[in-house]
Amino acid sequence: MALLIKNGRIVTAHDIFVGDILCEGEVITQIAPSVVAPEGADVIDAADKFVFPGFIDPHVHITLPFMGTFAKDTYESASRAALVGGTTSLIEMCCPSREEQPLEAFELWKSKTDQSACDYSFHMGVTRFDESTPDQLREIVNQGIASFKVFLAYKGAFGISDQELFDTLSLAKELGVIVTAHCENETLVAALQSRLLAAGKTGPEWHEPSRPPLVEASGVHHLMTFAEVTGAHVYCVHTSCRESLEVVQAAQLRGVNAWVETVIPHLTLDKTHAELPDFEGSKYVMSPPLRDKKQQAALWAGLRSRLISTVATDHAPFDFARQKEMGGDDFTKIPNGIPSIEERVRLLYTYGVGRGHIDLPTLVDCASTQAAKLFGLYPRKGTIGIGSDADLVVYDPQYRGKISSQSQEMAVDYSAFEGWEVEGRPTVVTVRGAVQVVDGQFVGTLGHGQLLTRMPTHF
Ligand code: URP
Ligand code: ZN
Ligand code: ZN
Repeated sequence: MALLIKNGRIVTAHDIFVGDILCEGEVITQIAPSVVAPEGADVIDAADKFVFPGFIDPHVHITLPFMGTFAKDTYESASRAALVGGTTSLIEMCCPSREEQPLEAFELWKSKTDQSACDYSFHMGVTRFDESTPDQLREIVNQGIASFKVFLAYKGAFGISDQELFDTLSLAKELGVIVTAHCENETLVAALQSRLLAAGKTGPEWHEPSRPPLVEASGVHHLMTFAEVTGAHVYCVHTSCRESLEVVQAAQLRGVNAWVETVIPHLTLDKTHAELPDFEGSKYVMSPPLRDKKQQAALWAGLRSRLISTVATDHAPFDFARQKEMGGDDFTKIPNGIPSIEERVRLLYTYGVGRGHIDLPTLVDCASTQAAKLFGLYPRKGTIGIGSDADLVVYDPQYRGKISSQSQEMAVDYSAFEGWEVEGRPTVVTVRGAVQVVDGQFVGTLGHGQLLTRMPTHF
């Protein structure tokens, strides 16, 4: 079946031009100023609309077991939410406990994906490294998972020792696999948490003071040192502050192969949200924490200069009722995470492009192309080109709406962006040529999503 998208303003990471895109089977076969529709083709008129490559969210949690509970989404709810938000591929963190074997965890994570309507892959979490680990990780890489994830935080849970970090990065270097890392100094976090709690400071507003920018920058510095010693390629997830950016920039200048991700909550929300009364602040508890509003200028500047490569979500959905409430008398027990897989692109368009922080090609670059390049999906994903997967987002910039938890697809009982105005929305979204969203509503096929296998590229 053929699909022709006509007259759209096509936006890639490098170009903006008006033209037609023909999709046949699962791929794009023609891009030209005017393409004649083959007999029987479906035709979508995209006049006055943008046509973007399918967006890629390289950092999400869907069923994460964490802090004594589980993230609320399933692949059905998360992929529907991703698609109505214009995200056609996601990469979930596969996070075993320290007791689980990596191969068993990988099988378990894959077993939950049957209903996915969008394409997906995993970063393989390394939460323990012993003599049985390397062979299992080699096998997982052979199966097409070309990235690892480590945590320099969450002492006693996902966090690994320095020896384990060294072993993981050394193996990654040998295999050509990039290592994504949550960077915070976990000893400082634990010490500051104890001090605050001892002083009776128990509310969500104390989460940020327990993990200030220097604590994050210390974790980033630690990762940079280990990357420099091992030669591994590393990627700092959810980077929230100027202090961390400066550490990465200095390391890059020394020749360290390091890349930076920021996330939509850090670009749009700030620590005053975690200070809201009546425990509302708990909805805004994530790690690293929401920062002083002033930090956002550094993040936008980092995107413009490409010091920051990607904007992900770190989607981590926990209900307010009974989950966030677990930390009612102790902020260290509030499950960390802010759901945003559905809203990333609209927020980036409205509050990034619309406010003059970034231009349209930068939006495509940081929300699609760079993730594809860094994680071994390019040019199959991340661009609009002949032979690329027909993952396309027709975006109507005239649309005006408000975010509401009442209408969201995410399986969580609140929105961190309740009532926020958004400009534009993905009106049609395709995944490998199949129309999954029309008029902003999911109309697609559950189970259409495929596991994306990725080859190592970081040698
Ligand atoms: O607060 C966060 N970020 N929750 C999800 C787990 C993680 O650290 O990415
Ligand atoms: Zn993290
Ligand atoms: Zn995360």
